[in-house]
Amino acid sequence: MTMTETAPNDAGYKSFTIGGYSFSRDEYFATIEWPTGSHQIRIDEFLRCVQRDVAWGFFYGIVNFDSVIGTMNHYGNVDLFAGRFNDAYRKAEVDYNENFPHDDLMACFQAMLSDWTNEGYDPFAAPMETGSAYGPNNGSNDEAITRRRVVAERMVGVAGDEEIRTDESGFPVNRAFLDVAQDEPVIEAEPGYEDKVAAFNLYAYLSRSDVTWNPSVVSACKDSLYCPTTEEFTLPVIHGNDRVEWFVQLSDEIQWDVEDRDTGAKRARVIMRSGDVAAMPADIRHQGYSAKRSMLLVWENGSGRIPEMIAKGEAPIHPVEF
Ligand code: PHB
Ligand code: FE
Repeated sequence: MTMTETAPNDAGYKSFTIGGYSFSRDEYFATIEWPTGSHQIRIDEFLRCVQRDVAWGFFYGIVNFDSVIGTMNHYGNVDLFAGRFNDAYRKAEVDYNENFPHDDLMACFQAMLSDWTNEGYDPFAAPMETGSAYGPNNGSNDEAITRRRVVAERMVGVAGDEEIRTDESGFPVNRAFLDVAQDEPVIEAEPGYEDKVAAFNLYAYLSRSDVTWNPSVVSACKDSLYCPTTEEFTLPVIHGNDRVEWFVQLSDEIQWDVEDRDTGAKRARVIMRSGDVAAMPADIRHQGYSAKRSMLLVWENGSGRIPEMIAKGEAPIHPVEF
């Protein structure tokens, strides 16, 4: 199912149609229309959400842009929904869902992100570290929106794998992390093992991240993925988990709103300070707030079998019983 796009509107932006959905933007808002309704999202918020959905390949489970619009990943194909996880929309029967091949919805989102992102606005950056998303069409920022995602095969710093970040490679230390030590570990390998041992300073690595709310794989051991990220302002999406996720707060503080994944009913507020560890259940959705740039380790099990194992009762929804 391919998308179609229109000529630019008065504000200079194209509109995009895929299946029963159409997307348009004006100076302040994205407008989403489907056969039984319509919805508006502030354009800066919308672009931050689309940016993450694109960069993460629709991520694990559900990516809610807000309480109405979002995607549900079926790994190969993906649902785009409106009001599906919103009790009021469901009761009023104005909710809508449509399934697309992964590549088709991805192409639509990529084209929209490129056309609607103006020069000087970076949807991955913290609000204080980027320009405005508002106003009539004004250039583009394709370099920012097509950043390569860090996905280590084994670990950052291993020969041939993801490289550590330096001033020279274009990753200066962020303003919030100027106090983070930049020394790298000294490796004293036994003769013959020199190229088999690797180590890197994760805090220094994260202090040089130029993006926010963007977990990237820094080490992988089979399906066990360490996905640390630096956070500032709000997680733009409300993530609906399809598996357990462990959070380790590596610095500063993040506050989380945790809701029932399907109804949005409040479940918990979790305040995580440096050193705190949380296990987020597989049946929740959550959104985080970080008043100061902070470091968070998200530990994922990337196995494609997890959702099926949970459905069959072979894997837990809560990873620990107290
Ligand atoms: C999550 O949904 O678990 C998540 C997503 C992005 C982040 C952190 C956590 O930056
Ligand atoms: Fe999550």
